[in-house]
Amino acid sequence: MKTLISSDVSLLANLIQEGKVVIFPTETVYGIGASTRREGACLRVYEIKGRPKDNPLIAHFHSIESIEEVCVLGELGRKLLEKFSPGPLTLILPKKEKSLFPKELDTLAVRIPKNPVIREWIRQTGGPVSAPSANLSGRPSLTKLTDVVRYFEGKVDGILIEEEPSYGIESTVVSLVGEHPILLRPGSIESEELKTILPDLILPSPFESSPVLSVSHIPLSPGTKYKHYAPSAQVVIASSEEFIHSLEVGFDPKETAWIGFSLSGNEGKGKVLSERNDFLSKEGEGFREFDHFSLVSTNEEYASKLYAFFEACDLAKIQTIICEAPKLGRGWEGLRNRLEKASRRN
Ligand code: TXA
Ligand code: MG
Repeated sequence: MKTLISSDVSLLANLIQEGKVVIFPTETVYGIGASTRREGACLRVYEIKGRPKDNPLIAHFHSIESIEEVCVLGELGRKLLEKFSPGPLTLILPKKEKSLFPKELDTLAVRIPKNPVIREWIRQTGGPVSAPSANLSGRPSLTKLTDVVRYFEGKVDGILIEEEPSYGIESTVVSLVGEHPILLRPGSIESEELKTILPDLILPSPFESSPVLSVSHIPLSPGTKYKHYAPSAQVVIASSEEFIHSLEVGFDPKETAWIGFSLSGNEGKGKVLSERNDFLSKEGEGFREFDHFSLVSTNEEYASKLYAFFEACDLAKIQTIICEAPKLGRGWEGLRNRLEKASRRN
C-alpha cells in the first residue's frame, strides 16, 4: 500500500472521509485514526495495531459543541473541557448517538487535541476521528515522525505531518459515567487539578508513592516482551542512589542505557560519565550513533523524551534501560504510571 505522507490537511481529511486510516500527531503522542462513523475503518485500525478488540478507541473532536452533539456532556463535563481542553484530557461520557464506534458501548471516550491545525483537520474530516495511540499493541506509543514512518509506512493510507508531540505520554482519562468520577489513566493533567472540579474523584489504587524497585534485585533477562508501553529492553526503575551506582558498576555499557536527572551530577559522577562516553565512542560505528544517556531536568521533560528514548534503545539493541524514578511533584503521576507499566512483566 502506498502511504501518503503529507502536511496537506485537506488531502488527509479526504482520506478519512473515504474510510481510510491516517496517522496524525497530537500534543501527547501520535494517533492512528479512522472515522468514528465507519466501523470498517475503525476495525482496520485494530488489525494494523494488533489491538485486542475489547479495548475501545478515543474519539477526537474539534470543539466542545461537536462533542455535545453526540454525547451527554453534563455540567461537570463542560467545566472540565472548558478548563482543560483543548488539551491532554479524555472524558468517558454517555453516548447520544448510538451508531458511533464502538456501537456495542453506550459510552464514548472524547478528547480535543491542542494543536489548532489538527483540530482543523478533524473538522474537515466531518469528525470525529477515532484513534488509539499509533504503536503496535503493547509497545510504547510513538512521539517521533521517523519512528511512525518506520513502523507504519505501507500499512496505513496517510501520515499527517504536523508539530511533533510535546507532552510525550498519553492523555489523562476520566470517566464521568458512574456514580462517582474515576481517574482511569493518570497523565499530564493531574488528580489535584481535576479535584478542583471533581472533589470526589476516585483514584486508581495503589496511587501513592510505591517503593522504588532496587536495581540489584531485578533479573536482567533480556528481550522479554511486556504488555504495556514497553520496549523490548528490560526497563528498571531506580532510586537516585541506585541510578548513580549503576553508572559506576556492574552494567555492560554496550547493552545498557540510562535516562534520568542525575547524569549531570558533580563530585566525580560527571567524570564517570565522560569515561564511559570515551569508552563507548571507541567501540565502533554502531555506538557513536546512539546516546546511551538521556539527561532530563524536569518530570515533564522526562515524559516528553521517554518513548522516543525507548525506541532508540531498541534500535540500538540495548538490553536494559535504567530509569531514574521521577521526582515527587508536578508531572510525577503520569510518568510514574508509564514507567511502572513499562517495567512490568506481561
Ligand atoms: O493521548 C492519548 O490519549 C492518545 C492520543 C492519540 O489521543 N490516545 C491514546 O489512545 O492513548 P489509547 O487507545 O492508546 O488509549 C485509550 C484509553 C484506553 O485505555 C481505553 O481502554 C480507554 O481509553 N477507553 C476508550 N474508550 C473507553 C470507554 N468507552 N470506556 C472506558 N475506557 C475507554
Ligand atoms: Mg495506547
